[in-house]
Amino acid sequence: MAQRKVLLYIATSVDGYIADQNGGVDFLSAAQSSGEDYGFNSFIKRIDTIIWGRKTYDKLLSFGIPFPYRNKKCYVFSRTKHGKDENVEFVHREVGDFISALKKKPGKHIYCDGGAELVLEMMKLNLIDEFIISVIPTLLGGGIPLFKPGCSLQHLKLVESRSFPSGVVQVHNKRRSAQDQCAKPGGIIGYEGQS
Ligand SMILES: NC(=O)c1ccc[n+]([C@@H]2O[C@H](COP(=O)([O-])OP(=O)(O)OC[C@H]3O[C@@H](n4cnc5c(N)ncnc54)[C@H](OP(=O)(O)O)[C@@H]3O)[C@@H](O)[C@H]2O)c1
Repeated sequence: MAQRKVLLYIATSVDGYIADQNGGVDFLSAAQSSGEDYGFNSFIKRIDTIIWGRKTYDKLLSFGIPFPYRNKKCYVFSRTKHGKDENVEFVHREVGDFISALKKKPGKHIYCDGGAELVLEMMKLNLIDEFIISVIPTLLGGGIPLFKPGCSLQHLKLVESRSFPSGVVQVHNKRRSAQDQCAKPGGIIGYEGQS
């Protein structure tokens, strides 16, 4: 069976924010109202487990909609909440240990839905294998950046990029293997030959 991977599927503004300064995500609605699913329905069939940071889970609950992932195993990282609620299990374990244990269990891939605090913890440990980032044609000018300072350098390999009539551009990258990471990078446009 193929190794389980952690897949980040998330949307940002053009300037790289996942939410505005008040934690709002109204900027997503223009893209959502187009009726396009941005590959989400096929993506969700590849996963059987979802992980959130507690603030993202609270935001999902605040929408007041029926919980959409009843048939998935759902975990929420939190240092303040314990046990389970009707939807999820709260996790207060070292992120690296928890994800390594999950990856060793048989199953489909693992969907990381953010937010940025959880992503930072995972990036520090190189735990995210693939990044599917939908860029919404909006500049927020501030807010919660997807990648906070402290993320480690990672070389990625483009899997696919797609653009949609709504103006959304979705970029799917995967983490390069350790062998690829050591390869000498090629010239960067505009920097070749410069000392
Ligand atoms: N644009 C998008 O697609 C998208 C996607 C996801 C989220 N968002 C937005 O992003 C915002 C939330 O992101 P955020 O970065 O502020 O917060 P977050 O990552 O969702 O949640 C942070 C919380 O997760 C818990 N946590 C983080 N690391 C942990 C660890 N190592 N161990 C245990 N618990 C840990 C802590 O919960 P406790 O405080 O309970 O200890 C922490 O306060 C919301 O506004 C949401 O709407 C947008």
